Amino acid sequence: MPLGHHRRRSHFVNLSHNTAATTYDRAVANRLTPPSVRPRALSRRRRSVVPRTTLTDDPFGHLDDHVRRYLTEGTANGETDRHNRRALDALRVVPRVLELAAAPVVSTAAHLLGRPVAAPLAIAPMAAQRLAHPDGELAVARAAARVGVPMVLSLSSTTPVETICDVAGLEVWFQVYPFADAGETDAVISRAIAAGASAVVLTVDLPPTGQTVAIGRAIELPPGAGYAHHGPAPAMATAFGWGDLARLIAAAEVPVLVKGITHPLDADRAVAAGAAGVIVSNHGGRVLDGLIAAIDALDDLDRHWRTPGTVACPRLVDGSIRTGVDVIRALALGAEGVLVGRTVLQALARGGEEAVFDRLSALVADVHHTLAVLGARSPAAVEREHVRWGSAGRR
Ligand SMILES: Cc1cc2nc3c(=O)[nH]c(=O)nc-3n(C[C@H](O)[C@H](O)[C@H](O)COP(=O)(O)O)c2cc1C
Repeated sequence: MPLGHHRRRSHFVNLSHNTAATTYDRAVANRLTPPSVRPRALSRRRRSVVPRTTLTDDPFGHLDDHVRRYLTEGTANGETDRHNRRALDALRVVPRVLELAAAPVVSTAAHLLGRPVAAPLAIAPMAAQRLAHPDGELAVARAAARVGVPMVLSLSSTTPVETICDVAGLEVWFQVYPFADAGETDAVISRAIAAGASAVVLTVDLPPTGQTVAIGRAIELPPGAGYAHHGPAPAMATAFGWGDLARLIAAAEVPVLVKGITHPLDADRAVAAGAAGVIVSNHGGRVLDGLIAAIDALDDLDRHWRTPGTVACPRLVDGSIRTGVDVIRALALGAEGVLVGRTVLQALARGGEEAVFDRLSALVADVHHTLAVLGARSPAAVEREHVRWGSAGRR
């Protein structure tokens, strides 16, 4: 499927969709701001722009405890998950003032993998979204299309890739874990590309032994739901190496991103294998406690790829990205964009498509507000000089 076949959609948040009735939804809807407004208008709304999405009730409260834990928690003690957040908080933003006077317009529009997006973010791949809401991945897909950001569909989705690719205006990237049978991996990638997926995300950070604490246990899907691309207990690869990765990338007809990189030398190997990009990630802290925070790993990689003689590729990052400031933190350390995970699942569980739309719209509005405060008129204008590690942090 050639790049560029997807329809372009508006960068503007459609306020008319925000008709949800809960206090939370109304609060978010009231905070929405179109991502391209003049600073003067923005300043009038400033107090209401920043989405403080602190929740007082649990959107997963109606779910069985083990399902709720699967959808929300990190592994073991949740230490890596918390560390992702703490490390983000330690990276402080340093605005430049009076920068926008000549042309006081800010836009969140950006490019991911060379394709235009409404803001530099995409939905992280997350398995079995019908656990969170009966509409599952389809609700998320529709909301992402309305906002204008790509969705990474998990191999372990409970909705077929064909159904997701049918959502008008949505850019779909398909995530895979390698199956034990390489032919099965090739077949599912071909299926996704035939359906319209414009990129493949190969996740490489799960241990080949299959032992994980938070994400390995058996979860029973709701009645009527099933995995759309494999059976209930698929045989996954235990001997997948760099050579296999290079072979898979060479065979794929679309760009392949490698997800789960934290070491700069692994990023180099991904580039050498032909990866179109890397996703710096510790899987949201769902694999092991004690791992390097994703934003620290991104920093390491940015420094590494500033070394003469190295060859860089586009990078994205995920792990506790929740606000516009978080997005800007990632951009400042060299990321082209971010993936957002559990904040989307939380919205999905709360109110399906409308709640996901509200959450994504609020995040885009917050990116806009942060850019304006920073004095950067677009995501591309964010530089490393816009951030520094804070004295209350670690450096
Ligand atoms: C319920 C759940 C399921 C996930 N399933 C997958 C998956 O199938 N494939 C994958 O590569 N990552 C998966 N992840 C990891 C996410 O893609 C992402 O790396 C992680 O959630 C970090 O982002 P967050 O802190 O914004 O949630 C999953 C995460 C969650 C919470």
